[in-house]
Amino acid sequence: MRVLLSQHPEIRRLKRQYIPSAHGNKLWTSSWLLMEYFRRRGLPEGSRVMEVGCGWGLAGIYCAKKHGALVTGVDIDPEVLPFMRLHGEINGVKMEFLKRSFNGLYRQHLKGVDVLIGADICFWDKMVHHLKRLILRAQQSDVRLVLIADPGRAPFEKIGEHFIANGTGKIMDWTTQRPRRIQGRLMEISL
Ligand SMILES: C[S@@+](CC[C@H](N)C(=O)[O-])C[C@H]1O[C@@H](n2cnc3c(N)ncnc32)[C@H](O)[C@@H]1O
Repeated sequence: MRVLLSQHPEIRRLKRQYIPSAHGNKLWTSSWLLMEYFRRRGLPEGSRVMEVGCGWGLAGIYCAKKHGALVTGVDIDPEVLPFMRLHGEINGVKMEFLKRSFNGLYRQHLKGVDVLIGADICFWDKMVHHLKRLILRAQQSDVRLVLIADPGRAPFEKIGEHFIANGTGKIMDWTTQRPRRIQGRLMEISL
């Protein structure tokens, strides 16, 4: 996987033009946990993956590059798109983009999606309700797997508790050694 750091001239050039406003201004570390999950567990070739709160979209790009997935990145903030496009280009893959909030993703968008992923997307209390509802809509739309990675913030744990209680989810401690040692939590929710 090729990732450009904030100091890279291309990133600096984009940052002069585009200003992501909801923390989509860099690659967050939980994306590496999702990549490690797919490296270990695999992903059927051609899977349809939706990455919500995608930011620079690296976890989705990984699925496209390493597993031939068809990926759509979703973010409330269109200013992240040039950063996602650039990373798609340097990794030789294309991702679709949808400008939508968690709340604005309806069954029509989720239909046909196999796997819904998100990294570092549960950081405000108000997100608990919105993400819970999104995951429920995904389940009703036959999305077979939802995976959310996080350092283990309280809103993330709260969402996990809900899906553990209804018997569809579990939360695992997860570690990757690439690109360096990163520890976090992974929520795995199945149909
Ligand atoms: C902390 S960043 C994580 C970005 C990326 N997933 C990563 O790991 O590098 C959170 C992302 O979620 C997006 N976001 C925040 N609130 C959102 C919402 N309600 N609906 C959709 N996306 C949202 C932000 O624009 C931002 O790109």
